[in-house]
Amino acid sequence: MPAYVFPGRFPSTRPRRLRSAPWIRDLVAETALRPQDLVLNLILRDETAAAGPIPAMPGIARHTVDEVVTRAEIAWEAGIKALALFPFTGPDSRSPGGEAALDADNLMCRAARGIKASLPSIGLIADVALDPYTDHGHDGLLADGEILNDETVAVLCDQAALLAQAGFDTLAPSDMMDGRVGAIRRRLDDDGYTDRLILSYAVKYASRFYGPYRDAIGSRGVLLGDKATYQMDPRNADEALKEAALDCAEGADILMVKPGLPYLDRIAAVKATFGLPVAAFQVSGEYAMLRCAADQGAFAFAPAALEALICLKRGGADMIFSYYADEAARWLSDGLPS
Ligand code: PBG
Repeated sequence: MPAYVFPGRFPSTRPRRLRSAPWIRDLVAETALRPQDLVLNLILRDETAAAGPIPAMPGIARHTVDEVVTRAEIAWEAGIKALALFPFTGPDSRSPGGEAALDADNLMCRAARGIKASLPSIGLIADVALDPYTDHGHDGLLADGEILNDETVAVLCDQAALLAQAGFDTLAPSDMMDGRVGAIRRRLDDDGYTDRLILSYAVKYASRFYGPYRDAIGSRGVLLGDKATYQMDPRNADEALKEAALDCAEGADILMVKPGLPYLDRIAAVKATFGLPVAAFQVSGEYAMLRCAADQGAFAFAPAALEALICLKRGGADMIFSYYADEAARWLSDGLPS
């Protein structure tokens, strides 16, 4: 970034000259969003789970393993280089300790094997946390109403190693336990997975904007209380840098800020402070706001949804996780729908 240069003054300086036609606007555009900047979020479901829509996320479906392979192939054609997978789990497969997280034949592992068999070069990112598997909906182990940090980290290490074995290239701890990045790094290295990346959900706020996602993975109505003892308080800014610094020191390869647009200040700060790639997660509630507003006629979905992604990139995100990444990739290469 150049130091600010005083631009002169009217009438010799007319900023509108640089906006006068598409060719000059394109020449001076500072931000270029590309399909390969986008990670597609996909929700998985077991073959036995109903296909039904996700009420809070109109237009988003849960995919069986077969369906997700087809969707991945189409997304790859559209220029998407990586997928982030999240499993829907019904009440019957949930338990206090979230044991299904450690089942080598769980939905995440089967989906990874299926996708890699068809698309060996696509990047696969696994959410590492227990909330899809616990009957109380928390990301960690719960005892007497408390989330147990160190005991949870031990389970997350097993979960990360299992997901690596299933073929995930990137392990993305989203649980916000203290010390988990370092512990997972050591475990992956000990198991011979020195090549696997850790994308840390380093700056993850306790946000209402996750509401629709909890619906999508079957945690709505399940979650006991809230996640405020481990996710960050939306009122805090400095704490974002502390969390990011710790994860850098523990060996994270990529730092994530989540949610996206409402936390653009933190994306910019993390990008300006640390020399690591920064990921932004455009969460389910941000998707729902765009989709529902468009459905009510407030604006057309595609241009508004593309603008949101461009703004995340302009704010400092090197990559953006989104539920419409493949659609956006097509808008970028073929133009917006008329
Ligand atoms: C939890 C997790 C959450 C999301 C991704 N991983 C929700 C939460 O913390 O409750 C949210 C994703 C979204 O809202 O799109 N491990």
